Amino acid sequence: MRPSNVLPYLPVLLMCGVLAAGAANVPAAGDPPRLAPLPPVPEPPDNKTTKVKAELGKLLFFDPKITGDASLSCGDCHAPRQGWGLAEPISRGYPGTVHWRNSQTAVNSVYLSKLFWQGDAGSPEAQAQTANTGAVAGNGSNDVMEARLRQTPEYVKRFKEAFGTERPLINDAWLAVATFERAMLVQKDNPLDRYLKGDKSALSAKAVRGKQLFEGKASCIQCHNGPLLTDEKYYNLGVPRPKEFEDSGLNQITFRWEIYQKGLHEKKYREWKDDPGLYFGTKREKDAGKFRTAPLRYIKYTAPYMHAGQFFTLEEVIDFYDKAGGENEFTKRYGNKTKVLKPLNLTKDEKEALIAFLEELSGDEIKIAVPKVPPYGVMPDVPGLTQAQAKRIGLERHLSAIGKK
Ligand code: HEC
Ligand code: HEC
Repeated sequence: MRPSNVLPYLPVLLMCGVLAAGAANVPAAGDPPRLAPLPPVPEPPDNKTTKVKAELGKLLFFDPKITGDASLSCGDCHAPRQGWGLAEPISRGYPGTVHWRNSQTAVNSVYLSKLFWQGDAGSPEAQAQTANTGAVAGNGSNDVMEARLRQTPEYVKRFKEAFGTERPLINDAWLAVATFERAMLVQKDNPLDRYLKGDKSALSAKAVRGKQLFEGKASCIQCHNGPLLTDEKYYNLGVPRPKEFEDSGLNQITFRWEIYQKGLHEKKYREWKDDPGLYFGTKREKDAGKFRTAPLRYIKYTAPYMHAGQFFTLEEVIDFYDKAGGENEFTKRYGNKTKVLKPLNLTKDEKEALIAFLEELSGDEIKIAVPKVPPYGVMPDVPGLTQAQAKRIGLERHLSAIGKK
């Protein structure tokens, strides 16, 4: 509605506001959205969830064949027993490198519309491809990864069942991985969901107190809201520079390389020492050091915390917020620390209650046994299939996937 159109409806809008404020689950105008139970898993029309596809995706998630030197899988950086992330501040990288950010949990990530700390992938399908082709992560090239899948008889069979193709196509691998995440890496019906749906015994009294603080005195709800406990917006909280950027040669190489290849002006390349986050995407100085509000549903299992694992425990995180966040290079240069953060003056008991809430809402761990991945095999000839036809099958699928057909 354009502003000029608003006026005639103003009384109606005001009335709705009054009604809404009275209803139990609708926030009053100007208030942040409430916490909400997890809705059904969103399913894109061009990648419907099927059981065969999800099972294929599970194998691929743990199969190093779809990275550069076939030594590293998604599961090596998103380990089931480390919260489907990595329990180290900055993630491992492609062999010979390190990453420059903390490995996030893959749990519940299929609900996000902005993936990564910087929110720069728009879907789990796009995310998977970026992960396994990015230089300091999977570092794979599509033709080599695809050839490996085609040289694995079990995959030829499974891709045909899942996608109806004669030969595995690398783009379909990303669809399958995303389907696995939708089917098996979602934590349904955790204590917070049960509590919000009316089971008041689902959270302990202490956690309920923590929830009230989360939504009240501690103001976490300003940014961590909705079903995933994130507004998917960007803030600079003043999270400090990771010490690895200063102490470790390998980390310096990766950081310098990232800011170079992401197109920073030479002056900034030379001066900046902190991760510019959202700035990489927008190139606006006021966005430097901003990161997407992190979802919190699986938080108990995913230490350390923040974009470079700057904090090892939830206690440290709460202390950070209690002091209204911190300072980094960009809060000092551009004064762009979010105004939302204020000193909280939390007592020891209140801090403990907040932590109890975060821990309890994390629910049970998602445990999946790491599958044995299928071996390579010598491929039989396909009778009657010429090289030209084989190429055409690949090209057609590729074109329809990118919308050219
Ligand atoms: C070398 C380690 C590494 C590998 C391999 C890797 N990841 Fe990641 N993953 C990371 C790191 C580090 C991040 C955060 C990167 C960033 O924000 O820039 C991440 C982020 C993600 C996210 C985003 C979660 C969120 O909250 O936005 C998902 C989902 C994910 N990875 C899934 C995968 C899948 C699926 C694969 C395999 C196709 C994979 N990753 C391979 C390290 C890795
Ligand atoms: C102004 C918005 C905002 C407010 C208010 C806020 N957060 Fe955050 N939170 C964020 C952002 C943005 C990040 C990611 C920051 C980064 O990595 O640099 C984050 C990260 C976190 C993380 C780490 C997540 C992870 O996966 O590593 C936790 C835990 C957390 N917040 C809890 C809280 C709690 C508890 C409160 C209330 C005391 C709170 N937050 C208040 C925006 C906010």
